[in-house]
Amino acid sequence: MQIKNSAVSMIIDASDQKELEEIKLQFLGRSGKFTLTLKNITKVPAEKRATIGKLANEVKDAIESTLEEKISSLKYQASDRRKQSIDITGPGIKPEIGHLHLITQAIEEVSEIFNHIGFTRVRYPEVEWDWYAFEALNFPQNHPARDDWETFFIKQTPDAKKGSVILTPHTSSGQIREMERKKTPPIRMLNIAKCYRRQSDVSHSPMFHQFEGLVVDKSISITHLKGTLDYFVKSYFGEDRKSRIRPYHFQFTEPSLEVDVTCGVCKGKGCKLCKEGWLELGGAGMVHPNVLKSGGINPKEYTGFAFGWGVERVLIMKEGIKIDDLRLLYSSNINFLEQF
Ligand code: DAH
Repeated sequence: MQIKNSAVSMIIDASDQKELEEIKLQFLGRSGKFTLTLKNITKVPAEKRATIGKLANEVKDAIESTLEEKISSLKYQASDRRKQSIDITGPGIKPEIGHLHLITQAIEEVSEIFNHIGFTRVRYPEVEWDWYAFEALNFPQNHPARDDWETFFIKQTPDAKKGSVILTPHTSSGQIREMERKKTPPIRMLNIAKCYRRQSDVSHSPMFHQFEGLVVDKSISITHLKGTLDYFVKSYFGEDRKSRIRPYHFQFTEPSLEVDVTCGVCKGKGCKLCKEGWLELGGAGMVHPNVLKSGGINPKEYTGFAFGWGVERVLIMKEGIKIDDLRLLYSSNINFLEQF
């Protein structure tokens, strides 16, 4: 018993593994105190041997289990000390984080640029009446865009006034909706939304994004349009880029224009990415008087300008890249998206 008590108290007081090894040797080793005592068992009278043997086993078990407990408690203390020794002021391990999709980034950037010059961002329905997308925008009944080879029609009985239900093929449908919302000018709208057309090839997808600007006020002229264009081109593409306008035709603007931007790769000199130094940005023009009338605005009192450009298009133009297949943008292919 005495051996047991002194062994247990020494084990408990031990401060490291080495000390424990020594204690183990001292008691349980070949010439350890316990081992020697056990050897003397032969000297004990035969009738008492069984009791003594049992007692000896208990002593041995107690020493061994105390030793085990002490070893694991020392190990735990060591790992706890290691944890506490982490330098919390040191730089951490940076978790990997993703980024917004390229199209979302472009939409945010475009919104911000126009927000600076007083345009309010709006969003109008993607499932739209023919009235807003075509009729009110001065499209004649037989215009090819109204054909079901060009536009997606929703199976629904047409409305007596607003006509068929379609997936909007352009953000210009937001022009009339904004005139109805504001009732009287000034209007400075930026409508960014998804558009749908029956097209699918390497440079067209059935769903794409456009941003549409509309300004209506007293004495708005083409110079305001040109100034806005230049401001956008320099803010989005860079100070060294220029814009130009060419005559064109749209149903809902008169005069109508196509806007070009100097190529970002050759800076206007001409290269294989562009047409003699210029890249086509999209359409613009002065709002047609019939469109103002459809929106309940008197064209004798107010004038306006509008523009509508593709988000995917400006993004590709900004990066100065030729994407082999536009549909890659919607593929969630991380290897592709991480390049930008
Ligand atoms: N809606 C036309 C399209 O999708 C683009 C457009 C052209 C919008 C001229 C306009 C504009 O606002 O004035 O092709």
